[in-house]
Amino acid sequence: MNWRIRRWDLYAPLYDRFISFAAPRRRSLELAALRAGERVLIAGCGTGLDLPLLPAGLSVHAVDASPGMLRRALARPCASPVRFALMDAQQLAFPDACFDCVVLHLIVAIVPDPLACLREAARVLRPGGRIALFDKYHDGRGRPRLVRRVLNPLMKLLATDLNVPLPRLAPEAGLQLTHEEPALMRGLFRVARLERAPQMGVNSSV
Ligand SMILES: C[S@@+](CC[C@H](N)C(=O)[O-])C[C@H]1O[C@@H](n2cnc3c(N)ncnc32)[C@H](O)[C@@H]1O
Repeated sequence: MNWRIRRWDLYAPLYDRFISFAAPRRRSLELAALRAGERVLIAGCGTGLDLPLLPAGLSVHAVDASPGMLRRALARPCASPVRFALMDAQQLAFPDACFDCVVLHLIVAIVPDPLACLREAARVLRPGGRIALFDKYHDGRGRPRLVRRVLNPLMKLLATDLNVPLPRLAPEAGLQLTHEEPALMRGLFRVARLERAPQMGVNSSV
């Protein structure tokens, strides 16, 4: 198994001790305005910290590439039924347009190819469907600041890219960034709502 995935198996027993982020998760889900009857995908669900925050009446799929993380998610309570699967968020085994909402919390900055992850989320969303995103990213304007560039190699080795240019990648993935706001650590972490526009082809730019 590749190291990028294996490290999450190693982090899994400790993950919930260090990571919670309940408030930004709630805010991101609030922006997505989930309604009863909707089909929701959580891509890179980790230990399932989002599951208890979901309302009842949804149909939820939760996927992750790490067996260790996914095992913990299986035990997490959720008011809606959840189906779990081991899956790469950059290559989802779901048909086109089969979800109303995709939750991307702390995953786009983790995967080797963030654009592929966004494209796959856009592909499985119905036209008009939306993405609830919570992550670190760069505004895509100019070069990231020196501190971000200096820290990034170490951060990438340990877990995460600080400089994914989300606002630039979104249109390339066929998504519109309709709202974003700072969430934590003076805006290092942000929450965003993205939408697959009804008339937009998945690979077209806006
Ligand atoms: C920082 S954790 C975030 C977990 C969860 N979304 C959360 O908000 O707590 C990143 C997760 O992405 C998963 N992951 C890493 N690469 C992946 C990939 N290519 N496809 C799916 N999941 C992946 C890891 O196993 C880990 O569970």
